[in-house]
Amino acid sequence: NKVVLAYSGGLDTSVIVPWLRENYGCEVVCFTADVGQGIKELDGLEEKAKASGACQLVVKDLKEEFVRDYIFPCLRAGAVYERKYLLGTSMARPVIAKAMVDVAREVGADAVSHGCTGKGNDQVRFELTFFALNPELNVVAPWREWDITGREDAIEYAKKHNVPVPVTKKSIYSRDRNLWHLSHEGDILEDPANEPKKDMYMMSVDPEDAPDQPEYVEIGIDSGIPVSLNGKTLSPASLLAELNEIGGRHGIGRIDLVENRLVGMKSRGVYETPGGTILFNAVRELETLTLDRETIQVKDSLALKYAELVYAGRWFDPLRESMDAFMEKITETTTGSVTLKLYKGSVSVTGRTSPYSLYREDISSFESGDIYDQADAAGFIRLYGLPMRVRAMLKKGI
Ligand code: ARG
Ligand code: SIN
Repeated sequence: NKVVLAYSGGLDTSVIVPWLRENYGCEVVCFTADVGQGIKELDGLEEKAKASGACQLVVKDLKEEFVRDYIFPCLRAGAVYERKYLLGTSMARPVIAKAMVDVAREVGADAVSHGCTGKGNDQVRFELTFFALNPELNVVAPWREWDITGREDAIEYAKKHNVPVPVTKKSIYSRDRNLWHLSHEGDILEDPANEPKKDMYMMSVDPEDAPDQPEYVEIGIDSGIPVSLNGKTLSPASLLAELNEIGGRHGIGRIDLVENRLVGMKSRGVYETPGGTILFNAVRELETLTLDRETIQVKDSLALKYAELVYAGRWFDPLRESMDAFMEKITETTTGSVTLKLYKGSVSVTGRTSPYSLYREDISSFESGDIYDQADAAGFIRLYGLPMRVRAMLKKGI
């Protein structure tokens, strides 16, 4: 039998390879997804996987699929978890897990395995995706089974099994990077009272060190989906990559959050989402032209649930999929462009236009027009305020 392992080449997943062979007597196919974590991590990976005892390494470039089919729908929905988190890690797990299910079929594997701990969200996201897409696959989660407890233990185990210990120094933080974001957890961040160190950040400069000159960007949006940057049409992944550069140099998109994990505990994380933060502001802003009050309210209330489902790993849940059908319909006319000014960590909208704009200057203008008759307002206010008048009359005994 064969198992497909989500493999990064770090110490933990390198140790999982011999552990799976020893404890399950199976062949190990390593799988690495390129979701934009930085190509450095992919160099020389095949030799590394084989040196650990894998029979094969499969690498798939999922960048465009990730941005187009996972990130952009969440963006269109306006999904934010617990007021701040733009779901970078949450959206990446289902695209990776889906690819693992495909690889398992391609190589004839009957099991899948991941290196998530038993204390986090990621294990849930991987496994719910496996369940949804192939309920027959066996799932092995070594962290929930083995007695390797720390880094020293893992190095020991690697040496005993002739697995080369990865030379890359493990960072003190638990990080997860992809095209959308970079997350930092652990070490000094575990005390929510501690301010993150300046040198921890990797995608963005400190707003204090950002240029003294603001920079303007123009985002073109088609039905709630970003399609162009400064007038240039770009593929989803290249648009996001370019915007990360721009946002990063202005210190955009840093958040510091104490969040509620699905498994019940609170955890503190710091996230960098430079391009994503700009896109999020742009799409939401365009909706102020294209959607009316009640539609925005209903959309925002559903976005809360949508975000919760994505955070909880329920991407392939018909509930999320149906909500997406709603989001697609409601944003049909959210097309146009938004101009934003980036300056020392802040994003401010300076202009928005849409061919489907519901805003009409001839109605709203302080100069008088003939569609809106001010005399109509008197009757409207009398009826709109009728319940208030009735209550006040009752109080006065009228
Ligand atoms: N807390 C975030 C989330 O649950 C980030 C998790 C980061 N994962 C990791 N393996 N370092 O989405
Ligand atoms: C992990 O525990 O594997 C990372 C953190 C998380 O999944 O929330």
